[in-house]
Amino acid sequence: MKKKPFKPFNFDGKCIDLSHDGKGVVKYQDLVGFIENILPDEEALIEVTFIKKDRFFGRVIKITKESPLRVKPKCGIYKKCGGCSLQHLSYLGQKEFKRKKVQETLKRIGDIDIEVSETVGMEPPYHYRNKIQMPVRLSKNGKIVSGFYQENTHDIVPVEHCSIENKMADQILTTIKQLMKKYRILPYDEDRRIGVIRHVLIRNSYYFNEVMVVLVTNCDTFPGRNNFVKDLKSLEPKITTIVQNINSRDTNVILGEKERILFGPGFIKDQLCGLTFKISPKSFYQVNPTQTEVLYQTAISLADIKKSDLVLDAYCGIGTIGLIAAKKVKKVIGVEIVKSAVIDAKNNAKENGINNISFFEGDAGEFIIKKHQEGIHFDVVIMDPPRKGSDKQFLGTLLNAQPKKIVYISCEPSTLARDLKILSSNYEIKKAIPVDMFSQTFHVETIVLLCLKDAKKK
Ligand SMILES: C[S@@+](CC[C@H](N)C(=O)[O-])C[C@H]1O[C@@H](n2cnc3c(N)ncnc32)[C@H](O)[C@@H]1O
Repeated sequence: MKKKPFKPFNFDGKCIDLSHDGKGVVKYQDLVGFIENILPDEEALIEVTFIKKDRFFGRVIKITKESPLRVKPKCGIYKKCGGCSLQHLSYLGQKEFKRKKVQETLKRIGDIDIEVSETVGMEPPYHYRNKIQMPVRLSKNGKIVSGFYQENTHDIVPVEHCSIENKMADQILTTIKQLMKKYRILPYDEDRRIGVIRHVLIRNSYYFNEVMVVLVTNCDTFPGRNNFVKDLKSLEPKITTIVQNINSRDTNVILGEKERILFGPGFIKDQLCGLTFKISPKSFYQVNPTQTEVLYQTAISLADIKKSDLVLDAYCGIGTIGLIAAKKVKKVIGVEIVKSAVIDAKNNAKENGINNISFFEGDAGEFIIKKHQEGIHFDVVIMDPPRKGSDKQFLGTLLNAQPKKIVYISCEPSTLARDLKILSSNYEIKKAIPVDMFSQTFHVETIVLLCLKDAKKK
């Protein structure tokens, strides 16, 4: 017998909480739905569009009782884009959402009971991003568009102005699209794997007047490239370097291996906490410059480092944290897996005249095992792994090596909680401070201070 198609229906619902990604939690009988654009305690007419097991899927038709924390989103395409899922929540509400998210995740996954501190926020919480990275495609009506992928799809929501990105980057991207049209440079077509420009990455320095444009192309060379670069330079004189990155693989990874400098030095410089850093296209660099200073200063002050300390800066990127900490300690050792970031880190040490620091390329887990076997003892470890967190090899060796303090910086509370659970066997979790590096989105950065339980005996 043919299954009857699902018939959507409406009900009056109330939001009881926010999920980890900022969606409103709404119950309908014994089903639960995660609905966009509804806040705790708000009531709304909700359409149920689909039911699967104990979940319903749906949307708000009309809010009937508003939360006092609701604000009007700044962005015109807010509902379509999905990049900033908290723009309808006041900034005070966003900071509390993040604090609560860290607190609950540490408890649920890590079994950690700690009063998480207030989220350290920024003002104004807009236009903070120093990097944009957008796919470029041909729309159905033949227009060259760039934007964000709609949630769970590869459909692009065209974005002309973004309320969290640097305004100057929006302008450069518009010029690039105009020049693509002028020189008939086709954007990439994912299905047919033809076309030229896949992504455009724009990074700007907060401190210096320097801007890097990276054109990620599907092919090694393309007609009109020299004229395109010449026009781009003269129309957007703020650009100080243009790099072509070649990525012809069928992959979601944005950057390919091969790079070609088309103009300028191939990198930009920026300043953080009084030091100058060189940033290459592939190097990790925090996206919110003002909050990065807050993040690093908080992390370093929590570490309470001493002149006699040997410090490990694990997952060090271009060496930012270690270099800033170096003047307060005996020596810093940094480890990082991306080769170009390690080269940048070594240059950054030289440029800033810092001699008590060494950087190594490699996996942090393998590196710390090697150092432990060599009998090298770190007094303090500052670790800042990627979203997927650290690994058993690294954490297990930390438990054996017993640095007296660990400062764990994380951009993903769930992996942080998982890793802290392992470390909590021998470390006391003293403090957890969320720092808002990604205002208007559900993402949160957290700094955690761990102290060795029996440190006094050591
Ligand atoms: C969140 S970033 C932090 C970088 C730096 N601490 C900063 O604030 O700019 C994480 C870094 O870890 C590096 N990484 C990822 N996996 C790694 C591994 N297994 N071993 C060492 N570094 C790794 C990434 O390349 C990236 O630079």
